[in-house]
Amino acid sequence: MNKIDFAVILLFYCVNKAHLQELENNHDWDVLIFTQQWPETVCKEWVHHNPSHTCKMPKKDDSWSIHGIWPTKLGTLGPSFCNRTWFFDPEEIRPIETDLINVWTNIEEGTEIYSFWAHEWTKHGTCAAVLEPLSSQFKYFSKGLNFFQQYDMSVVLAQAGIVPDNDKEYKLIDIYNAVKNKLKVNPSIQCRIEDGRTFLVEIRICFDKKLNLTSCDGIKHRKLNRQVPIITNCDSTSGILYPHNEKPPNKLYVELYKLVTWLQWFTL
Ligand SMILES: *[C@@H]1O[C@H](CO)[C@@H](O)[C@H](O)[C@H]1NC(C)=O
Ligand SMILES: *[C@@H]1O[C@H](CO)[C@@H](O)[C@H](O)[C@H]1NC(C)=O
Repeated sequence: MNKIDFAVILLFYCVNKAHLQELENNHDWDVLIFTQQWPETVCKEWVHHNPSHTCKMPKKDDSWSIHGIWPTKLGTLGPSFCNRTWFFDPEEIRPIETDLINVWTNIEEGTEIYSFWAHEWTKHGTCAAVLEPLSSQFKYFSKGLNFFQQYDMSVVLAQAGIVPDNDKEYKLIDIYNAVKNKLKVNPSIQCRIEDGRTFLVEIRICFDKKLNLTSCDGIKHRKLNRQVPIITNCDSTSGILYPHNEKPPNKLYVELYKLVTWLQWFTL
């Protein structure tokens, strides 16, 4: 290698390194994405990873649950992990813990008790915390509960006649319009494919830095369906399933049922 080559490579390396550093340190963002997820679909994915997995469902039947509040710079993903030494502290959220369990549910049962909230806090919360109304763990998680109360997707969708149903297939445009007509902003609709069928998994709505609703236009997606003029990864040509959340059967009932059938057999 001659000196020029070496210098070019070194220069390239430095520029690249500086660029990465800049990305690391740039914690600037434009909007907050508030994401609600459909527990039944999240559960399907979790069990798909490993059939021995079980799910924890939100307290209320057929309820959406919170995924997170994600500060986002338009046209890119993140920022994330804005302060790697600001750890999740369960004591901070203790006063609202029951509410969080009920509606900000860690569906992936068997994972460490606080792992879901700790992840949301360290990845997203530490970046959201530059805003005064989100500047602590208590405030960040309380705001999630508050958004959920105001913009519960069960309520928003039901007003357009979109309700959980194990067989019915909904059209992407109808789900999208239900949210758009009610909230007057453009949401993002996310689907998952399981066993060749398309399931609704997430509805994301966006807020500006005053915490007012704003359209999600310009947010980046890993996978985007460019066939339709809406923000989605769903296949607009296939029907979308929105099945009931099924609580795992209560073990006691299963045992009782077995006992009763056994007794019936015995006495007949
Ligand atoms: C990161 O968080 C810790 C703990 O709250 C805090 O003491 C520190 O000042 C924060 N660092 C920055 C750069 O904000
Ligand atoms: C935005 O939020 C502020 C404070 O929460 C409120 O006073 C204002 O009316 C809102 N603006 C719009 C356009 O909704």
